Amino acid sequence: MMTVYLNGQFIPLEEARIPVLDRGFIFGDGVYEVIPVYSRSPFRLPEHLRRLQHSLDGIRMANPHSDSEWAQLIQQLVEQNEGEDQYLYLHITRGVAKRDHAFPSPPVPPTVFMMSSPFPAPPSALLRAGVCAVTADDNRWLRCDIKSIALLPNVLLRQIAVDADCAETLLLRADPNKPGTRFMTEGAASNIFAVSNGTLLAPPKDNLMLPGITYDVILEIARANDIPHEVRHISADEVFGADELLLTSSTKEVLPITRLDGQPVASGEPGPMFGRMHALYQEFKREVMRK
Ligand code: PDD
Repeated sequence: MMTVYLNGQFIPLEEARIPVLDRGFIFGDGVYEVIPVYSRSPFRLPEHLRRLQHSLDGIRMANPHSDSEWAQLIQQLVEQNEGEDQYLYLHITRGVAKRDHAFPSPPVPPTVFMMSSPFPAPPSALLRAGVCAVTADDNRWLRCDIKSIALLPNVLLRQIAVDADCAETLLLRADPNKPGTRFMTEGAASNIFAVSNGTLLAPPKDNLMLPGITYDVILEIARANDIPHEVRHISADEVFGADELLLTSSTKEVLPITRLDGQPVASGEPGPMFGRMHALYQEFKREVMRK
């Protein structure tokens, strides 16, 4: 049985209810976080809470809790759920009010919801063979840095991959500075790195992508291990000509993309950068958990 947190109470999932006038339900007016939990300890919690604050600031909402309150509530929820490794979902909406696009005035209490499920460790077959991806035009808004619960564009984009029996949709956005060309932003629910001639290429963290916590860990690992890396725009041509493509997220960790739009990525096998990054990422996790 799963225990969830809703507005100050720890209750069974089946008993959790929200009013239909919740602005999350009506407008998708809210933000969220997904936090991996290893050995019952949230991974990179200060970084996740910092991004949560950025998202709240982006939608002009006050943070209902201090970082130490969040840490306590999260720990309590983790203790009440199964699994040494979990992934915790945290969701805040602008609360319940008569339907009107404008913010409720005076403000109403936010809705705060959290749940934690067993961590879905990536099957080893996926690590050995890699996953396939398809490309699509990034037609989302210009504040992709906000982790908004309004995920309809991401839902539609991800379904393009599912319909093609693939794991992810790699998003290419039209470059306003170079008409007729596109550059890679991220995946529908992940960040994407390319590898070219031994150099790890990462798209810059701007308003067009979610600043991934896993993305930051990967760049930190690259810096610490003298792995050549560049943070810059990656053109569609570079994506299609890449030696390797890597997908990262809190739930997928690091995965190799070995097929893109039905064609093999280079040899079609996971490459050496993936092998190294995956091993270093696991080591990094173990190291953090020991502390
Ligand atoms: N998604 N970009 C998008 C659009 C995402 O939705 C995610 C994560 C990421 C990776 O960020 P991080 O490394 O912090 O998980 C990038 C989560 C896992 C989700 O929506 O379930």
